[in-house]
Amino acid sequence: MQRPAIRDDLALRAGYHSPQLDVEVRLNTNEAPASPPAAFAERVAQAARDMEWNRYPDRQATALRAALAERYGRSVGEVFVGNGSNEVLQTLMLTFGGVGRTAAVFEPTYALHSHISKTAGTTVVEGARRDDFSLDLDEVQRVIEQTDPNVLFLCSPNNPSGLIDPPDTVDRVLEMLAGSHTLLVVDEAYGQFAPSSAVGRIDEDTAMVVSRTFSKTWSMASARLGYLLGPSWIVDELFKVILPYHLDGMKQAAGLAALEFGDEMDVRVAQVIEERGRLLTAFEDLPVTTWNSAASFFLFRPETMGGDELWQALVDRSILLRNCASWPGLEGCLRVTIGTPEENDRLLAALQDILG
Ligand SMILES: Cc1ncc(COP(=O)(O)O)c(C=O)c1O
Repeated sequence: MQRPAIRDDLALRAGYHSPQLDVEVRLNTNEAPASPPAAFAERVAQAARDMEWNRYPDRQATALRAALAERYGRSVGEVFVGNGSNEVLQTLMLTFGGVGRTAAVFEPTYALHSHISKTAGTTVVEGARRDDFSLDLDEVQRVIEQTDPNVLFLCSPNNPSGLIDPPDTVDRVLEMLAGSHTLLVVDEAYGQFAPSSAVGRIDEDTAMVVSRTFSKTWSMASARLGYLLGPSWIVDELFKVILPYHLDGMKQAAGLAALEFGDEMDVRVAQVIEERGRLLTAFEDLPVTTWNSAASFFLFRPETMGGDELWQALVDRSILLRNCASWPGLEGCLRVTIGTPEENDRLLAALQDILG
């Protein structure tokens, strides 16, 4: 047999990996530290009993989209849902990217923006952030002028730095894009942990979408559910591209159930923000450089030992952080997801022990 050849542009690419190890304290993939409320699981169990399993689900996921629309004060036509916000981003790139088109990203940022774009055949152009990882609007302007991208990604709070862009950033980028054909995608996977958002800027005459997820705030990473808010004409196009019945019935029910626990989720978000503040303050007494974060994680660089070395020393104590030490621009850095107070205490004790 001659093995069928994969696409030339995919041949040399490594897949996206997020290494997992069997440890007691997992602070590496930015999951929520707590499970959803127990009553949520009951609601989902009831939905499973009531489900018409022999029938296809609502293809447009109308009830879920309507509930999201209500939460954000938008119309149902302005909401698209997918299997995680990664699938939402992939659908955007299948629709607005593709061969002969370009997407602009500003590195370092969420690796999947490039990965998904390239998988959809899109050429990726990389702008650079400043050394402190903040977005440089002059660089954004340069990339727009030189490459005229079809899609431009912002990520706020950004992953892996945790930095939020100043509130006027989206307006300023939209001004730069005035008269262009560029779609602005603002990834707000961590938007609920941050003080400002681009959601209020959405309207039918602005080629901008904001993507969000149930994975972080709603403690539902396992369910794989994400969404975007944007002009209805964009949502209509995405529905032409996504597979029919892409969102299964249980997931639609789980999303709807989750939205009934908005107050409980707000409390969880507040707890994560409080723990983030406590950890960041405690890190001030350690020999590390930290970056202030508006997300459910933050980035730091040890000053007295290498990032790889510290990562391993923590693994030896059964604590797993994300090792970014060899990522371009992030030399020596580790990223820590905010855990439960007990997990965070354990991390602090381990760092005090290792770093002195
Ligand atoms: C910035 C950013 N966007 C999107 C995602 C994807 O989230 P999900 O596919 O779980 O909704 C993540 C996950 O870590 C992320 O960090």
